[in-house]
Amino acid sequence: MKKPVSILGISSLYHDSAAALIIDGKIISASQEERFTRKKHDFRMPVNAIKSCLKEGNFAAEDLDYVVFYEKPFLKFERLLETYFAYAPRGFRQFLMGIPQWLNQKLHLPREIDKVLDKRYKNKYIFMEHHESHAASAFFPSPFEEAAIVTVDGVGEWTTASVGSGRGNKIKLDYELHFPHSLGLLYSAFTYFTGFKVNSGEYKLMGLAPYGRPVYYDTIMEKLLDLKEDGSFRLNLDYFTYCYTDAMTGRKFEELFGGPRRRPESQITQREMDIAASIQKVTEEIMLRIARFAYKNTGMKNLALAGGVALNCVGNGRILREGPFENIWIQPAAGDAGGALGAALFVHYQLLGNERKVEAQKDSQAGSLLGPCFSSSEIKTYLDSIGAVYHSIEDEEQLLEKVSDEIQNGKVIGWFQGKMEFGPRALGNRSILGDARSEQMQSHMNLKIKFRESFRPFAPSVLREDCSEYFEFAEEKESPYMLLVSGVHSSKRCRFDGESDELTGLELLKVKRSVVPGITHVDYSARIQTVDEERHGRYYRLLKKFKAKTGCPLVINTSFNIRGEPIVCSPENKYHCFISTHNDILVLEGYVLYKEEQPEKKEHKVEEYLAKFELD
Ligand SMILES: [Fe+2]
Repeated sequence: MKKPVSILGISSLYHDSAAALIIDGKIISASQEERFTRKKHDFRMPVNAIKSCLKEGNFAAEDLDYVVFYEKPFLKFERLLETYFAYAPRGFRQFLMGIPQWLNQKLHLPREIDKVLDKRYKNKYIFMEHHESHAASAFFPSPFEEAAIVTVDGVGEWTTASVGSGRGNKIKLDYELHFPHSLGLLYSAFTYFTGFKVNSGEYKLMGLAPYGRPVYYDTIMEKLLDLKEDGSFRLNLDYFTYCYTDAMTGRKFEELFGGPRRRPESQITQREMDIAASIQKVTEEIMLRIARFAYKNTGMKNLALAGGVALNCVGNGRILREGPFENIWIQPAAGDAGGALGAALFVHYQLLGNERKVEAQKDSQAGSLLGPCFSSSEIKTYLDSIGAVYHSIEDEEQLLEKVSDEIQNGKVIGWFQGKMEFGPRALGNRSILGDARSEQMQSHMNLKIKFRESFRPFAPSVLREDCSEYFEFAEEKESPYMLLVSGVHSSKRCRFDGESDELTGLELLKVKRSVVPGITHVDYSARIQTVDEERHGRYYRLLKKFKAKTGCPLVINTSFNIRGEPIVCSPENKYHCFISTHNDILVLEGYVLYKEEQPEKKEHKVEEYLAKFELD
């Protein structure tokens, strides 16, 4: 009998470290290190994620056939040296600070990975190029036999964006954009300037954009960019300082946008909202141009996307609606975590030449529910060990009856089932759920549950079959990974009087915009997750039950964590978050916990819990 081929992919030492295990081409497990260490965007060697992958696959390190790293450290080091010499003596301090990590760790990866695997892996290590890993993560798990491929991020070794194609078991990248010209870094520069954290707060900037007007669009296009029709561009580096400091923007940038950057945590003004709207519009324009170029270059009807910029779901939504492609598929772990998966799949298909079969146009990402899961007995043992009070409801029908009732009653539910998600979105397995019909829910969940900024929108999980009734979303399409933004259907929008037209900025939140205000952003958009029975099982049936009672086929779905905290992984993480915040009810598989029944109610210790996590 043929021995199965096992490949471990690793991404690490920049941000969002992760590991992925594939056996005979099947994704067995994939996780981000932050979920285990409880340190958001953890960049360290993914020791825990690797262990988890091996455990889930019931596999030992010595049995691995290949271990692959998602980028080429020497090429990256070359970029750092060349950039340093181009700007020296500026950047000397950053250079000096970075060198020890390169000399001690990054340039000795085989030795470092050996340590993690206890020297039990005996074969050679493979190193991929960063954007090849992204491209492989976009194409190989996609539901397409052939597709154009676009990758866009901050930077890998030198590449910041690429365009190519995939056919069967091969991918090919034809065009690249190189550092320092980078859409990811451009967006991050504005993230920095508006007072959010780089490599973390980009999605906040995207969420802020609908509150503003794109009044700086022309300024950005004229002063900061030389944009070509094919989506490639050169940045005017007089305005940016990221080549030689930790700061991303300098004085010239400040002069252009009316003063210094917003101090983190200070009040957000109309200026930041307008800047957000402007850079978002520029980003969408560039994404659309690259997509059109990829179409022209390949003539293919499908598009596969990855790289951190592919998490810009507003841009993705526009490509789907306006771009020339019939179908698009986006890697759910589009950032560097997904590189671990892409690298492993690249080895399996491209290097080893294994056949790739696409079954009935289905992707092979398994709902991106690829992390560890916990059995009922493990959960029970944990709950007993801490003396938690719980109700065990083995009958699913009864459980869903109760939970859907509680959602309807306005309660906020912590929902935990099956395998943890791979990628930044909670997709119904490590989620917090609420009633989207409630007018108070958005503000309540932002301030009391997540302890985050009041402007942040929430996303809906909607029954796939009812999606097009509630959203301007084609009936035959799906969005299981919450990576596409679409408008709320006109029939579900509320009319309001002319006075509301005068509102600006955060005042826009005061207006009820639809029959599901909890998930309707101020521009009537929503970041949709379609839920189907095959991928989501019990979660789908919960939504079905909720619909049967209320007529509403959707709920608010937000990740189970507070601001700055990685999404919970284990029942223990989930219980701690539940008990220290204002969640009402926790559902851990078949165990239901009510906050008021718990012996330790730590709500007065919220500050203590919040202090554990660095603000993002
Ligand atoms: Fe990347």
